[in-house]
Amino acid sequence: MAKAKPDTVFFCQNCGYESVKWAGQCPVCREWNTMTEEPAARKTKKSAGIPRLNADGGKPVTLKEIELNEEDRLSTGIRELDRVLGGGLVQGSLILVGGDPGIGKSTLLLQVCRNLTGAGHSVLYVSGEESAKQIKMRAVRIGEFNDNLKLYCDTSLDDVAALIEKDRPEAVVIDSIQTMNNENVTAAAGSVSQVRESTGVLMRLAKGFGITIFIVGHVTKDGSVAGPRVLEHMVDTVLYFEGDVQGAYRILRGVKNRFGSTDEIGVFEMAEKGLNEVDNPSEYLLSGRAERASGNVVTCTIEGTRPLLVEIQALVCDSNFGFPKRQATGMDFNRVSLLMAVLEKRVGMRLGQSDAYVNIAGGLKISEPATDLGVVIAVASSFQNRPVDPKLAAFGEVGLNGEVRAVSMCDRRVNEAKKMGFRTVIVPKANHKSTAGITGIEILEAGSVDDVISLI
Ligand code: TYD
Ligand code: MG
Repeated sequence: MAKAKPDTVFFCQNCGYESVKWAGQCPVCREWNTMTEEPAARKTKKSAGIPRLNADGGKPVTLKEIELNEEDRLSTGIRELDRVLGGGLVQGSLILVGGDPGIGKSTLLLQVCRNLTGAGHSVLYVSGEESAKQIKMRAVRIGEFNDNLKLYCDTSLDDVAALIEKDRPEAVVIDSIQTMNNENVTAAAGSVSQVRESTGVLMRLAKGFGITIFIVGHVTKDGSVAGPRVLEHMVDTVLYFEGDVQGAYRILRGVKNRFGSTDEIGVFEMAEKGLNEVDNPSEYLLSGRAERASGNVVTCTIEGTRPLLVEIQALVCDSNFGFPKRQATGMDFNRVSLLMAVLEKRVGMRLGQSDAYVNIAGGLKISEPATDLGVVIAVASSFQNRPVDPKLAAFGEVGLNGEVRAVSMCDRRVNEAKKMGFRTVIVPKANHKSTAGITGIEILEAGSVDDVISLI
């Protein structure tokens, strides 16, 4: 006997995994408490009029027959964004812009709309969150807009799709995907099945008509709405807007990009009149440094193709409890614990009875091992209460034996430090060849953590 289809299913709000049974932990992404119940998606009718991917009759073609032209890349008028996109917007692509509420997604996209319409392109801005008046208020802060921009405030995806099909604008912004409601799906707006289905419709519109579509997705941790992670695999490009909502600086990070490199970042500053680009991020990351304080050191990391100088801060103090507290902000906690163990074992620093806090100044998140040496120096400096020369930068990967290992793009890091006025830079000995020709900055080579401690 055939089993009846269940009325409800469970979706992981983090990764979109679907199951007929509830579970406390998602078996796929291993997140806890993310499974929520939703009505099983029932398609009531076929989406009419939306083109399929192969709109021209479904004939296979050879690669030679497909023409590429330069104009397929459209500049957004924001250099930082263009770089993260890999050189501009690709016609017909689907771009997901994720981030916490209030980080500036709507502001950024409205600025993109202004630049695109200013360059003569037609753009439709669909908002399911704000009224036309509220958008107007934001637009007034940003600047002058012309008539190429059309606003449409609605949450019905079917109406939006019909409008896009009729007007055929060159670019569309959907703000946000979690408010869109597709009548073909019974689940509530913001649920995994709604968000997925709606994105599918938008994808077919984008590819079928060659319309560039931006999708805004809020990131929420409590699982009340489906996170943008659920759609990451459906879209061409995924950008995350990160940073402290209270702070002025925002980082736009490319997480996935079918048309360019990922891990490229763009830095913005939220100002009175919208977002401004930050041309020299090292300068902003190093602004407001405390001179002559122990526990601070500058290191150089590579984000995408660009070297960035960041300050690593460490605070090591006596522990009041038998169990010392360790904390890391902006980098991997386990990595910090490992580096402290290396200091303890290979250099003989007795850190076992100390609390330690490590922080990356400026709100940046770093995962590159080249910053290891910075962490080691910062912790050692705080432990011994001796400040490091503020004109010194250091980078290198640290191994478990206390050896300093080579890093990629060493010369670019050294040049960035030189450009920012640093006097001395500590580099891995193994990178000797790549720094040979650089003058104007003192280059010290370190083979092990012991060397480094004696150098400073
Ligand atoms: P918004 O784009 O609405 O965020 P999101 O769409 O990601 O939820 O931006 C919200 C914040 O930005 C809000 O706190 C006000 C601030 N803001 C400025 O500081 N300056 C400006 O010019 C604008 C338009 C917004
Ligand atoms: Mg918004």
